[in-house]
Parts: sequence; structure tokens; C-alpha cells
Amino acid sequence: MSYYKLKKATNADDKTNLEDKHVPVIDAPDRVKKGEYFEVKLKMGEGIDHPMEEGHFIQYVELYADYYQLGRVSFTPEMKAEVTLTIKLEEDCTLRAYEFCNIHGQWEAAKEITVE
Ligand SMILES: [Fe+2]
Repeated sequence: MSYYKLKKATNADDKTNLEDKHVPVIDAPDRVKKGEYFEVKLKMGEGIDHPMEEGHFIQYVELYADYYQLGRVSFTPEMKAEVTLTIKLEEDCTLRAYEFCNIHGQWEAAKEITVE
């Protein structure tokens, strides 16, 4: 499996086992107020937690507002691959999460956010 290829769920309503374990889940409101802090929870795995063990684990997750990097969190096998970030936005954007598994490479999820 190539590290170079970006992977995402081919059908969000019917994800494969590999997709369930890797596609990040972005838990955030659909609408937020301009300039006001809100929480974005990023979880690696839907239904199944991705393994976090020496040799196979999520190394990091990055959160973007469109093409601007809001933050990056590194994990070790001792950690649970989830994190809550508190952010604020100035305009509508697509939140994108990229997670990197040391074996299965980079996976993307996206969520539209409306800023009022
Ligand atoms: Fe993996």
C-alpha cells in the first residue's frame, strides 16, 4: 500500500473495514458563530478503534480549514487516537482531517462548516 496516495471513504454510507478503522471522524457543529471558539473532536475509527501498538498505530492527525493548517497532534502507541481541539473560524470553510497510519498511510475526511 502506497504512502503517497491519499485515501478516503469511497462510499461514506458503506465503509469497508479498513475505511472504518482509518477515515477520521470529525465531530463538530454544522454552523458556528464567527470568531467564537467551538470544539472539534477527531476520532480515528468509526465503530472500531484503530490499533495503537508498537508497529501499527496512528502517528498524527492534522486539521485544516480549507488549505490552512489549524493544528497537528502527534500520537504514540500509548495514546488513544482521538483529540478535541478548540478553534474559531472567520468564514465558511471545509474542515479537513488527515490522519497518518504508519502501515496504511494517509486518510482524509472533510466536513463543511457554515460561519454566521
Ligand atoms: Fe492502520
